[in-house]
Amino acid sequence: MPFYFMLKGKKIILGITGSIAAYKSAVIVRLLIKAGAEVKVIMTPPATSFIAPLTLSTLSKNDVLFELSENDTWSNHVMLGRWADIMLMAPLTCNTLSSMASGACDNLLMAVYLSATCPVVAAPAMDEDMWLHPSTQKNIATIKSYHNEVIPVNSGELASGLTGQGRMAEPEEIVAWLEEWFKKKVQLTGKKILVSAGPTYEAMDPVRFIGNHSSGKMGIALAEECRSRGADVTLVLGPTVEKVPAGMTVKRVVSASEMYDACTSIFPSVDIAIMCAAVADYTPVTVAPEKIKKSGETLTLELKKTADILKRLGELKKEGQFVAGFALETTNEKEHALKKLQQKNADMIVLNSLKDAGAGFGHDTNKITIFDKQGNEHHFDTRPKSEIAADIINTLINVAHA
Ligand code: CTP
Repeated sequence: MPFYFMLKGKKIILGITGSIAAYKSAVIVRLLIKAGAEVKVIMTPPATSFIAPLTLSTLSKNDVLFELSENDTWSNHVMLGRWADIMLMAPLTCNTLSSMASGACDNLLMAVYLSATCPVVAAPAMDEDMWLHPSTQKNIATIKSYHNEVIPVNSGELASGLTGQGRMAEPEEIVAWLEEWFKKKVQLTGKKILVSAGPTYEAMDPVRFIGNHSSGKMGIALAEECRSRGADVTLVLGPTVEKVPAGMTVKRVVSASEMYDACTSIFPSVDIAIMCAAVADYTPVTVAPEKIKKSGETLTLELKKTADILKRLGELKKEGQFVAGFALETTNEKEHALKKLQQKNADMIVLNSLKDAGAGFGHDTNKITIFDKQGNEHHFDTRPKSEIAADIINTLINVAHA
């Protein structure tokens, strides 16, 4: 058995629902207890047909709970959710997944889930057709949007006798996932991080602006990644329809000059700044006070340069502060990225090349290369932006400690 040093003393609620994979929950409990965690098991009533509560109470050394009240005693679901460092739903059935997505509360497990103040992670288990059904996938996306995490299902032999996706991750994989989660959670604890994201809009008149296609998705994913690792995050966010993430300070701005003011005033109090925003390089010299009326065949707008926020942070940077920037390039990518690294006094530049399929504005995936000031290059494949965010933060932590 690997040595899980992060799980020692951790308080874990294990929610077990009615799937054949419930027999594996006994192994999860055993591994967690051996790793030094405290485990309280809550079962849905159907789960008790798949595994005996006695097995689980013996392994967890705690009573197993199923009902909101037993023998005229009310189970305090609110305190259970506050007691735990994390709540693990394994296996998670289609039915309980649907309750988690809709907020239905017809058993103790759902009452604890709905009142839990701790993070929640689920390991789904179901047959492939159920797993791939649009409503299941929609429910998975919904519970993720509520900041629950989902441990990927495996492919293999299923209870139906068929082979395919939907098998619950193995107990060892689930426990290793928890170990990694606790490890990541403390990585940036105590660190203050500023992230800029999204486009800026430069007004021409009261109704028009010059903008760009940035959605803010990459910067938001980075801010969420930093928060999930324990950082105190401030997100300076340009105009976007993307959902504002929870658990951080969000400062909404519109123009490049507002973003400049916000970032330069926050920067002295942070340890790390990640400038991911697509800031307009030019802004109209004058903003017409009234709507510009259609007149001649052509219209000439005079633009002036905006202040470079990343460059300014590079100038203001003090010992112990770390500044990361982005570069979006279409030609001579490496050369331009290295120039930005040096000219803006950044510690690392993340290069997005628009030439790569699936990379850049509006996509959910991205392809990046990172250049650091020690002269190293870090290459990555095309991946979802949330995973790229983890790659960027892992690299940032390594570069900052180098
Ligand atoms: N940036 C900034 N302030 C600006 C312009 C850019 O802080 N006024 C930052 C971006 O957030 C990014 C980096 O600088 O981290 C590089 O942005 P990019 O648009 O690729 O480069 P520019 O410096 O604007 O140069 P060019 O447009 O000529 O490539």
